[in-house]
Amino acid sequence: MLDSLKVTVLAEDSVPYESPLLGQHGVSFWLEAERKGHVRRILVDVGQNPDALLYNINQLQIPLHQTDAIVITHCHYDHTKGLSAILKAIGKRDLPVIAHPSLFRLNFITDPFFRHVGVMQGDEADDLRKAGAELVPAADPLQLMPGLSTTGEVPRVTDFEEVGISLSTVTEDGRVEKDLMKDDLALTARVKGLGAVVVTGCSHAGIINILRHCLKKEERLEGVIGGLHLVEASEDRIEKTVSALGEFSPSLVAAGHCTGFRAQWALYGAFRERFATMGSGTVFCFYGQTEKGDKSE
Ligand SMILES: [Fe+2]
Ligand SMILES: [Fe+2]
Repeated sequence: MLDSLKVTVLAEDSVPYESPLLGQHGVSFWLEAERKGHVRRILVDVGQNPDALLYNINQLQIPLHQTDAIVITHCHYDHTKGLSAILKAIGKRDLPVIAHPSLFRLNFITDPFFRHVGVMQGDEADDLRKAGAELVPAADPLQLMPGLSTTGEVPRVTDFEEVGISLSTVTEDGRVEKDLMKDDLALTARVKGLGAVVVTGCSHAGIINILRHCLKKEERLEGVIGGLHLVEASEDRIEKTVSALGEFSPSLVAAGHCTGFRAQWALYGAFRERFATMGSGTVFCFYGQTEKGDKSE
């Protein structure tokens, strides 16, 4: 269990009112996970514009060189482009970069025209290694520290969720197949006395599938932070998602990036003060509680 968790949004599609920071289509989070007096710092995704990301990192005075690990939630360029440049800016050797083993596959749309939307040239496995990465291709949940794990591959169990975008891939023997985004993973942080905080990139696996997969039986959901990829979802899917999310009774639903206005509006209607948008620079803090309910810090 963590004693505290601080999530800073380093980049997002929007910026808060009067913010001096830059927005971009994509997300990046900075996690500070504290346990027994030690803070570990994890960079989750890097957006698609490293210059804009580094600008925000500077403005926010984030100690990037203290990054302990990087987690990449899935292959899409708006989460991975410029990762080599960010690794170089971090300047470490053998820095763990945790992602699904299929991260570097071809991943493309064909409407309005063929376009690869996965990991771009310059950020392929060898480039990342040269820039200081120790690649950790893990399909299973991976514990970064007690109280903080990736979800690994997420089983698809609901009947109303799908990837949210029509994507294809090409197999090693040249077969063209629908790409179901098996690489989509999230992070689960467990904060003492509060419950689980789930940080997700785009939720291509479906946010309800993600939550059902990563929450232990009877475990409390404290918060969800990230993109829910409901931007093109049917009203039916949005309604079912909001209702299923309500059953977890989270204290915070911070949904931005690819969530889309209609889903944000529906989530706001259901969760009111427990709903939040996010933008570059938004911070969410979770302080663990002792058994008596006192703050642990
Ligand atoms: Fe995305
Ligand atoms: Fe995505």
